[in-house]
Amino acid sequence: MEAEIKSIPFYLLIDLVNGSISKYTKKIEVRLSDMKPYFYDINALNEKIEKEGNYVIYEYYENSLDRIKGLNFGITIIHPGSIGKEYHFTRGHFHLNKEADEIYIGIKGKGLVLLDNGKGEFYSYLLERGTIIYIPGDFAHRTINIGDEDLVYFYIYPSDAGHDYESIQRRGFKKLVLKINNKFTLVDNPRY
Ligand code: NI
Repeated sequence: MEAEIKSIPFYLLIDLVNGSISKYTKKIEVRLSDMKPYFYDINALNEKIEKEGNYVIYEYYENSLDRIKGLNFGITIIHPGSIGKEYHFTRGHFHLNKEADEIYIGIKGKGLVLLDNGKGEFYSYLLERGTIIYIPGDFAHRTINIGDEDLVYFYIYPSDAGHDYESIQRRGFKKLVLKINNKFTLVDNPRY
């Protein structure tokens, strides 16, 4: 007989103006040095570290359940800035479990979400306060801060999703998001 997996109810608060949550089980900071396999212009990234220090590009505050069934959720904050011509972004990943879909809800700032199934289907959506983006489990997803303030959004996904970052390290997403004349522009990723 299989052991019963019990869920325990819990309660927390979210500030819907700035996205802060009153409780989380983990806080992850992702710094410039962690992003070396992801940004196109590695020289620009190394120069940034030398000049500005190994600063935090984005951080997330998550309530994770370490069990098979359940939902993980949290808040991601991507600070504004760029590396070479690329805006700050999250590493991006595929879910190992292709049936594990995800939802984003924009709270603050201006962003872009890239969705790429690796088989020719590619979408990009603006992420702003009040936007909801539905991410099917077989699409890699990355979020980019295309504004000049923090980009803050809520996310929720099944706790058995699993994360594949390696595929993204190998070739990235179909498009790069570049800052050209102070506007965001999508261009083909030469490494893809
Ligand atoms: Ni995900």
